[in-house]
Amino acid sequence: MKLNHLFDLSGKVAVVTGGGNGIGKAVCMMLSRAGASVAVGDLKYEDAQHVADEIKAEGGKAIAVACNVTVDEELVNMVDETVKAFGKVNVLVNNAGGGGGGRENPSKISVDDFAWRFKLNVYSAWRLSQLCAPHMEKDGYGSIINITSMSSINRSPNMSAYAASKAAMNHMTANLAMDYGGGKIRVNAVGPGATKTAALASVLTPEIEAKMLAHTPIKRLGEVDDIAGAVLYFAAPISEWVSGETLFVNGGGVQTLD
Ligand SMILES: NC(=O)c1ccc[n+]([C@@H]2O[C@H](COP(=O)([O-])OP(=O)(O)OC[C@H]3O[C@@H](n4cnc5c(N)ncnc54)[C@H](O)[C@@H]3O)[C@@H](O)[C@H]2O)c1
Repeated sequence: MKLNHLFDLSGKVAVVTGGGNGIGKAVCMMLSRAGASVAVGDLKYEDAQHVADEIKAEGGKAIAVACNVTVDEELVNMVDETVKAFGKVNVLVNNAGGGGGGRENPSKISVDDFAWRFKLNVYSAWRLSQLCAPHMEKDGYGSIINITSMSSINRSPNMSAYAASKAAMNHMTANLAMDYGGGKIRVNAVGPGATKTAALASVLTPEIEAKMLAHTPIKRLGEVDDIAGAVLYFAAPISEWVSGETLFVNGGGVQTLD
């Protein structure tokens, strides 16, 4: 097999949630450059539209879809729109997610907020997997990639809801790999360390950054393409026999906010 073919997604169709900014945008661009047609889903339709336009300006194929991953009808609609535009689904990247940021002290976070983080991070990925799997199975090629976090294995103060929901994603990844393997669908996760996006900027101070770098052998914070590269590996034929795994991409270190 030629090396190029191992990373080639020509003729494949990808769905990416939270694709309008940050890691999700980088994933959309990289999957498109590898040949995939991309459905860019985002809560902010205009941001998704910008990314779809950028892909088309480079000669790729893309659609933008308004999709809040906590709303079931919008998940169903995103898959329907993708199949209507491109005929199938091969790659699903469950990237939209959040919480964390050191704002989850048990004395402050409400029961509803705790539950919302699980809806955003865990339920959405499970439900989209359920919706996309039949299309992947039908086409004989499927890869589901869940974006989790280093928080899923770190111990940090004020992060219990986010950390627990991302840990649940890791384990759900391993379990869904058992469920979907028979349909030639791989399920893997990528766990970013601190990666330069708007979400990180909202909680980063020079002091926190210096402390993070002190615990990171590769002396820089993550760039969005570092994470997108790991997603490409799991999406492409090169990882055909890899399933149920979580790959942490973190410069070799542990970056925490405390
Ligand atoms: N940046 C980091 O350091 C870091 C570290 C670990 C894990 N992560 C994970 O990576 C993923 C992406 O984070 P990011 O840093 O790129 O964030 P970001 O804030 O830069 O971008 C997130 C995108 O998702 C969209 N979005 C937010 N809520 C949504 C919803 N309910 N439905 C659909 N779209 C929604 C936003 O509009 C935005 O376009 C998240 O799951 C996050 O938990 C990020």
